[in-house]
Amino acid sequence: MWKGRFQTDTAQLLKDFSESISFDWRLYRHDIAGSIAHATALEAAGLITKPELEAIRAGLLAIRSEIDAGKFTWKPELEDVHMNIEAELTRRIGDPGAKLHTARSRNDQVALDLRLYLRDEADTICKLLAEVQKSLVALGEAHLEIVIPGYTHLQRAQPVLFAHHLLAYVEMFARDAGRVADARKRLNVLPLGSGAIAGSTINLDRELIARLLDFPALTQNSMDAVSDRDFAVELLSALALVGIHLSRLSEDLILWASAEFKFVTISDAYTTGSSLMPQKKNPDVCELTRGKSGRLVGNLVSLLTTLKGLPMTYNRDMQEDKEPVFDSVDTVKAALQIYAAMLREIEVNPEECFAASADWGLLATDVADYLVLHGVPFRKAHEIVGKTVALCLKRGVGLHELTLADYKALSPAFEADVLEILTLKRSIDARTNSGAPATANVKARLAHWKATLE
Ligand code: ARG
Repeated sequence: MWKGRFQTDTAQLLKDFSESISFDWRLYRHDIAGSIAHATALEAAGLITKPELEAIRAGLLAIRSEIDAGKFTWKPELEDVHMNIEAELTRRIGDPGAKLHTARSRNDQVALDLRLYLRDEADTICKLLAEVQKSLVALGEAHLEIVIPGYTHLQRAQPVLFAHHLLAYVEMFARDAGRVADARKRLNVLPLGSGAIAGSTINLDRELIARLLDFPALTQNSMDAVSDRDFAVELLSALALVGIHLSRLSEDLILWASAEFKFVTISDAYTTGSSLMPQKKNPDVCELTRGKSGRLVGNLVSLLTTLKGLPMTYNRDMQEDKEPVFDSVDTVKAALQIYAAMLREIEVNPEECFAASADWGLLATDVADYLVLHGVPFRKAHEIVGKTVALCLKRGVGLHELTLADYKALSPAFEADVLEILTLKRSIDARTNSGAPATANVKARLAHWKATLE
């Protein structure tokens, strides 16, 4: 493609080293869509004829069908997806194919392809996030009566509805979808027309190309447009966070599925056995998802590092953007898909959840709140209940097993009704502030998400 200026062929080692077709071939649909729009603008500018445009369009669509069917042969010596498609088109249709690259560079072409690709993938990922949210909502709804201890420092803290815990992840994934949608907004800008760096002396109707490719805006600086990959960084950042959230959910499930917790059972379809220990049932999906969050973070750091210190504008370093981008997109989609399915088949074990949440310590804060409502300053109430807990531990009994006389001895502010507050149901349903886990709140939030996710 640059044969004019060179005397000898490039070394085979360089060809192997620099080719990207082995991974960027997957941009072919976007590359072809971009080329058809570009050719339409060439025709509108009178640079090619209508029949030439038709030959280009038909040729590209035929190539696309062959690639779709796995019948197209990629040539590594042609470097990348852009050159492979263009060279094959020219081989088939001759001159019109050789005119296609007029007023275009691979620099603006690849920027376009990547934006088109990520725009599609952003939509798919938002849909998959919604599927995981739906599964979480369905699981919560099916077990509305289940109470579990909420944990801080992985120590039992206060009682919560199981559904409230699941809804925490629904909120996280909603913010993730918001971040992906936000990144999509900023990447949804047409870079084509920027040429290699400084546009072109041959002016094409960029507005027309933008309309054809459904871009609401045009990039406004040709140098920025060919050197910008921050749109990809933003998406990788959003995907790294999806990975972190999935990883934390994985960790919860791994703990909950252990014999020590036993709050849930993950279905056989989504667990694996051991080649050695016949009794084992391992939560591999959760562990792999937790593990894969590492590469999502790595891919983000990889691209940031690639871009750091690059002089303006396009540098070949930027070809290194694709593998991390593809890997993060593939990884997140696969993890979301399997999570949406796996969550639908999780069984909850009521006895274990009940046994864990019967821990009287979960209600200690409720007793402090009781004292506050009976006029005791909170810091003092905290100390009194601390002593109450110490007394329970000394006697080996629960808060509900102390007598009224015991309570009175600890503080005159205690009255007979203190014993009435010591139930899980009361503890949960008294937490009625918005965002708190009272059953009515949780029901309302489940209903909200069900309606939103429809
Ligand atoms: N394969 C290249 C990439 O992905 C396309 C752009 C090549 N541009 C160039 N000037 N060599 O970055």
